[in-house]
Amino acid sequence: MITLLQLLVIAAPIFQVITASDPDPLQDFCVADLTKDLTLNGYPCKRAANTTTEDFIFSGLRNSGNTSVPTGAAAVFGFVQDYPGLNTLGLGIARLDWAPGGLIPPHTHPRGSEIIYVVKGSLYAGFVTTQNQLFARVISKGDVMIFPRGLIHWQLNVGNTTAMAIVTLDSQSPGFQLIANSMFGSDILDEVLVKTFFIDENAVRQLKATFS
Ligand SMILES: *[C@@H]1O[C@H](CO)[C@@H](O)[C@H](O)[C@H]1NC(C)=O
Ligand SMILES: *[C@@H]1O[C@H](CO)[C@@H](O)[C@H](O)[C@H]1NC(C)=O
Ligand SMILES: *[C@@H]1O[C@H](CO)[C@@H](O)[C@H](O)[C@H]1NC(C)=O
Repeated sequence: MITLLQLLVIAAPIFQVITASDPDPLQDFCVADLTKDLTLNGYPCKRAANTTTEDFIFSGLRNSGNTSVPTGAAAVFGFVQDYPGLNTLGLGIARLDWAPGGLIPPHTHPRGSEIIYVVKGSLYAGFVTTQNQLFARVISKGDVMIFPRGLIHWQLNVGNTTAMAIVTLDSQSPGFQLIANSMFGSDILDEVLVKTFFIDENAVRQLKATFS
């Protein structure tokens, strides 16, 4: 008879494959050489002899993005294109800022799970599963929340002050797909949207104008 321990040992490699995000690197690091073309999985490495401390430091998150936009929120990304030192390491980071009432609208990261740390303010944050189960509540300064890979999530500033958060993701290139923009900002045939959302063509045209 197989014991639970034996089962776990046998199953471990399978779980590893299932939970892996970016593939494991075969060297200490591989700072991206962005002058070279993207290859199948990431960028070619800069020569180790040409790599410096600066390649591992990113100052792009010092300042807020522009929150004076219709959504009242801004994201500044530290993904591989901005932060080449992340190449092959399965890591990404971003800074999020909100004006009062600002929203990072529902979106997904198809290639990465996310963890948010609220530095300032109060956010109504949540995600919805593939079974349409909702996990959401207000999180505040000092709180951390997880958004599992690929699931639709958002954060709304429900405080009276600006809010700020840092997120990290387990991918150097997690992808950022806004649901409304993908639906109404792409050139999907009107009939598809009419029949998807049960709205008339005028409503579709209005939404397309908003997100184009
Ligand atoms: C890499 O460093 C060598 C000297 O060590 C230099 O000749 C070469 O131009 C550098 N290459 C790049 C791409 O910076
Ligand atoms: C922020 O975005 C708004 C709307 O696009 C624009 O009018 C404004 O100039 C921007 N502010 C900065 C500091 O870039
Ligand atoms: C925001 O301001 C309103 C009105 O001034 C007040 O009733 C409410 O409690 C404030 N909310 C927070 C989260 O401070």
